[in-house]
Amino acid sequence: MTAPFADNTSGSSRISDEKILVLDFGSQYAQLIARRVREQNVYCEIVRHDITVERIATHNPRGIILSGGPSSVYEEGAPQCDPGLFSMGIPVLGICYGMQLMCQAFGGSVKNTSHREYGHAKIKIGATEDLFGGLPSETDVWMSHGDQVANVADSFSPLASTSTCPIAAMRHKELPLYAMQFHPEVTHTPLGFQILRNFVIAICECEGLWKLHDFAQQTIAEIRERVGNDRVICGLSGGVDSSVVAALLYQAIGPQLSCILVDNGLLRKQEAESVISEFTKHFKTDLHVVAGKEAFLEQLAGIEEPQEKRRRIGYQFVECFKAEARKIEDAKYLAQGTLYPDVIESGAAIDGPAATIKLHHNVGGLPKELGFELIEPLRDLFKDEVRKLGLELGLPEDLVWRHPFPGPGLAVRCLGEVTDDKLDVLREADSIVVSEIKAAGLYRSTSQAFAVLLPVRSVGVMGDARTYEDAVAVRCVNTDDFMTATWSDLPYEVLARISTRIINEVKGVNRVCYDISTKPPATIEWE
Ligand code: XMP
Repeated sequence: MTAPFADNTSGSSRISDEKILVLDFGSQYAQLIARRVREQNVYCEIVRHDITVERIATHNPRGIILSGGPSSVYEEGAPQCDPGLFSMGIPVLGICYGMQLMCQAFGGSVKNTSHREYGHAKIKIGATEDLFGGLPSETDVWMSHGDQVANVADSFSPLASTSTCPIAAMRHKELPLYAMQFHPEVTHTPLGFQILRNFVIAICECEGLWKLHDFAQQTIAEIRERVGNDRVICGLSGGVDSSVVAALLYQAIGPQLSCILVDNGLLRKQEAESVISEFTKHFKTDLHVVAGKEAFLEQLAGIEEPQEKRRRIGYQFVECFKAEARKIEDAKYLAQGTLYPDVIESGAAIDGPAATIKLHHNVGGLPKELGFELIEPLRDLFKDEVRKLGLELGLPEDLVWRHPFPGPGLAVRCLGEVTDDKLDVLREADSIVVSEIKAAGLYRSTSQAFAVLLPVRSVGVMGDARTYEDAVAVRCVNTDDFMTATWSDLPYEVLARISTRIINEVKGVNRVCYDISTKPPATIEWE
């Protein structure tokens, strides 16, 4: 952890004096646990499951959460934690696998349940106090496990049960050790928020003082100190992450910031204009706009293969960026909008878990090639925190809540060869999709909504004349993490308005389809 200073290797007090550590045993929910803790205004970090007690001590945590995980504690090679952490005097909460591990560490037994329990369950709570303070004696929870605690050691008391899981929660009789079989971090456990709050605020005695306002002020002060009189370059893309980085830097170093916007001709309607207006009128930055459209279209001429399109766009971006960056004399730093999930998933976090899941789409060779030192002020933040920070820094709601947009832009939504004319058609259709979704009040409840121009033409009839024109697909998805997604169940009236408007207003399109594919197996983008 450490942003924005790449060389800071200790557990940090920069963020907050109150910190909770989540030990990750391979749970799909580790990041969600951390987000839920941060929602209590308590800073939380994810660390590897086998972190030593000595390293834990350097973080000086108020509490430790042991995540769930796919393994069985009794299997050979099952991930373990340093057993010393149970006697550090720091409150520990074990969730699912974490509970089983705690149980085993104290001599209790864990058994396979023969059927995997997955879904809703009702727990009966013995005493609604302490961890379960403020809860009713019966409440719904979300279970996802194949093993469960069969017997607890004498030093533990059972706290709750379900019809199939006699020990659904437990606590140590003397030490501040708690555990539960179910998942308080998922929304399917409606009172899970209260349970985590009880742990973090009442048991770990955190005051909940971590505020993005303080984070912003601290980060701004640290950027100032680190940068001194040097110059920082920041690439702007129109997306929320790079805009928040630029806004932070602007507040820290004002005229020493130079922003570069590569207008690749693949942006959405009015996108370049709105970024230019925001960063020259509101934040009066030294903004360099690279008019790259011609060069990008030249690269893309005749190219239909999606990977090749992406490769060429990536190459051209680096070329444009490098050429412009070289013109900015005395630049020493390059600022990037790397977020906490990217840091965790790439295995780059100090004490963080190993890389397991994916490499970020945009991880490339840019900074290395240019020889700049990196500034990554969002390395500790989740996306929802970045949005809040953006608002805190005065960015407009419209920009802060903008749906994600891929680096290769409209090129991956303009199937087959990309041409200027096709991009114009797509831009108009896309703008209608987005404006109708906004008009229906659905923009915030959907994760991404856009148009795709298909490489097919079909027959239609307009007035008395036969038409033979392009087809547009509308893609609208809901997702938490963009790794899986469902298509949005839009009201028919909204779909009808989108379709009518595109066909009436976008010249060259006579057919609109709605994409009803989930991810997987389809991806969100079409190319
Ligand atoms: P897919 O299509 O893989 O997309 O389901 C998942 C999310 O990633 C976005 N995406 C990209 N973002 N550069 C980016 O910054 C890219 O090359 C890229 N490709 C896809 C996509 O819009 C969705 O949000």
